[in-house]
Amino acid sequence: MHLIISPETCSYRGEGNAGFVISLKKEEKVIRLEKQDAASKQTTCIDEQRQKCENQISMVKNVMKPLLGENLVNCPVLVFIHKDEIKTINSLFSVQRPKSRLHKIVNEENTYVLMLPDYCTLPPDLKMFSSFGPVISVEIKFLIA
Ligand SMILES: Nc1ncnc2c1ncn2[C@@H]1O[C@H](COP(=O)(O)OP(=O)(O)OP(=O)(O)O)[C@@H](O)[C@H]1O
Ligand SMILES: [Mg+2]
Repeated sequence: MHLIISPETCSYRGEGNAGFVISLKKEEKVIRLEKQDAASKQTTCIDEQRQKCENQISMVKNVMKPLLGENLVNCPVLVFIHKDEIKTINSLFSVQRPKSRLHKIVNEENTYVLMLPDYCTLPPDLKMFSSFGPVISVEIKFLIA
């Protein structure tokens, strides 16, 4: 899959301590990129990053789905993203980011990211019902000890 990153096709969705999330408007999906300290010289090799994403997919398939049910869990999809696209993301969305988060950016190297459904859009089978206001989703955090 080839991503087209521009203000028309994407928007800033949010971020936490580690993840930077962009929504793909037409696809109604999000991609989650990993950030690192802007001053850090550390680079993660692309194969390592791919393996990390594949481990997360395998965790969803083999742990989350059996625990929560096949129909309630969507498996992320592995997507390649070119460094030029990351440069665009860093520059396009910096004005929308909270100031307290700006010390971290996405490393501008070719990498792999995970693509997920955008949980702030209604799934197709609910779109026929009338609604108003934004779609709100809630993040549930799991602590696996
Ligand atoms: N699938 C999704 N659909 C819609 N919004 C999302 C999705 N995934 C992430 N987000 C938004 O992006 C934000 C950051 O994503 P994420 O939680 O993955 O980052 P994080 O660094 O792990 O954050 P934290 O450490 O605060 O949990 C979320 O708080 C949420 O607002
Ligand atoms: Mg989170």
